[in-house]
Amino acid sequence: MLSGAGKALGVTALAGVALPHVHAANSNTVQIALVGCGGRGTGAAINALSVTNGPMKLVAMADVVPAKMNSSYDKLKTQFADRVDVPPERRFLSFDAFRNAMDALKPGDVVILGTPPAFRWHQFRYAIDKGLNVFMEKPITVDGPTTKRMLALGEEATRKNLKVGVGLMVRHCRARQELHRRIQDGQIGEIVAMRAYRMGQGGGTSGPTPAGVSELTHQIQHFHAFLWASGGVFSDYYIHQIDECSWMKNAWPVEAHAMGGRHYRGDSLDQNFDTYSVQYVYPDGTRLYFDGRNMKGCRDEFATYAHGTKGSAVVSTLSHTPGMTRIYKGYKIPWVANRQQLPLPPDPNVTWAFPQPETSPYQFEWDDLMDAIRNDKPYNEVKRGAEASMVASMGRMAAHTGRIVTFDEMLNCPHEFAPNVDKLTMDGPAPLQLGSDGRYPVPEPGIKTDREY
Ligand SMILES: NC(=O)c1ccc[n+]([C@@H]2O[C@H](COP(=O)([O-])OP(=O)(O)OC[C@H]3O[C@@H](n4cnc5c(N)ncnc54)[C@H](O)[C@@H]3O)[C@@H](O)[C@H]2O)c1
Repeated sequence: MLSGAGKALGVTALAGVALPHVHAANSNTVQIALVGCGGRGTGAAINALSVTNGPMKLVAMADVVPAKMNSSYDKLKTQFADRVDVPPERRFLSFDAFRNAMDALKPGDVVILGTPPAFRWHQFRYAIDKGLNVFMEKPITVDGPTTKRMLALGEEATRKNLKVGVGLMVRHCRARQELHRRIQDGQIGEIVAMRAYRMGQGGGTSGPTPAGVSELTHQIQHFHAFLWASGGVFSDYYIHQIDECSWMKNAWPVEAHAMGGRHYRGDSLDQNFDTYSVQYVYPDGTRLYFDGRNMKGCRDEFATYAHGTKGSAVVSTLSHTPGMTRIYKGYKIPWVANRQQLPLPPDPNVTWAFPQPETSPYQFEWDDLMDAIRNDKPYNEVKRGAEASMVASMGRMAAHTGRIVTFDEMLNCPHEFAPNVDKLTMDGPAPLQLGSDGRYPVPEPGIKTDREY
């Protein structure tokens, strides 16, 4: 229906035009294109091809690094055989490859956006122009200007009746959904505080650009190291737990204050801190205390807790899946250090626990998206995803500047980290350049206070 309209028509020209539901015009098969064929993009394609409510086929792939494309293709082809129909002429390599891959789809098909977050908004804009349903990984923005742009694009997608999933898969976890219902029912009373920890053995470091590799390719391949590409480890790692707490609280925090530092970055040229400690303040004054650490040899924890006037809840136990959500009377929750401790022994303080084993939320998010696509149910997670991304940026900016940063200030912060991300070329310059000291700029709290670097 929209073929030919594509790019030329643009999003604004379609504003206000009600478009009927479309999927895979001439057959029941929903085709998929994969843009960004790395670990998660490939994982999302596996989840997509595993949905059981109708036939799916992967028909196009796009990346900028041949090795990533090849290993993703081999893995998917081995697992899914003829449901992967991506001959060499539909495997595209370049910064424009996403266009070629989406051009291979029909309106109503699905594109997976699995690149580093910096590329999300302009690839999403093209998907909207093409009338495609979208699954995009989190975070979906890294700064204020791209958040505003993404919110506008999300509204445009709704006007075109496109279905859009955002990879905050915990929202689709049946165990967390049941916990959310129970918290709304008052089973832990009023939430008075939340705590979340993402403390692991490292991450987000980067050495110098190796000889023979462009600086841009290097930065993209180490995107957790560079704020323009990912929002750093703060946005990329911590967004899930900040989002799940805000979901349990039914609100976004209004401000954040935070601290952190670079103790052991060594020769790494990245822009991250190796510790972050954040207080997020919700409208009623309730706080989320979030601790992130990327440091070897320290106590690790990857868990989320909510404390109420009548008891406590475990939102995450050991990473994202399984959730193993539980409710305790009182505030005494044992620390689960690793999977060797599972199954958890009986505990007289546990008043409810989601039954084990659980299906992965990475599969549920695709089951839910494809149910919406095939049955034409309203489905657009962009606003929620953009707000979660923005709230993550708010905590990061508070730590990086040493100031309290409010929701409104972050949304209106004019610093766009990579304003020309839609114009990058394989041999062109990277958005971040080395300083005269041979290092990339890093945040300096209290010194650089109106922007992060
Ligand atoms: N929901 C989750 O739990 C979860 C888990 C892991 C990663 N992610 C998200 O998925 C995204 C990708 O992460 P990953 O771990 O798969 O990284 P990755 O490096 O393994 O994959 C990214 C891929 O995108 C390619 N790429 C980069 N720029 C591109 C461009 N402009 N056009 C086309 N391809 C491009 C890279 O070459 C690479 O193959 C990130 O946003 C990350 O936060 C989400």
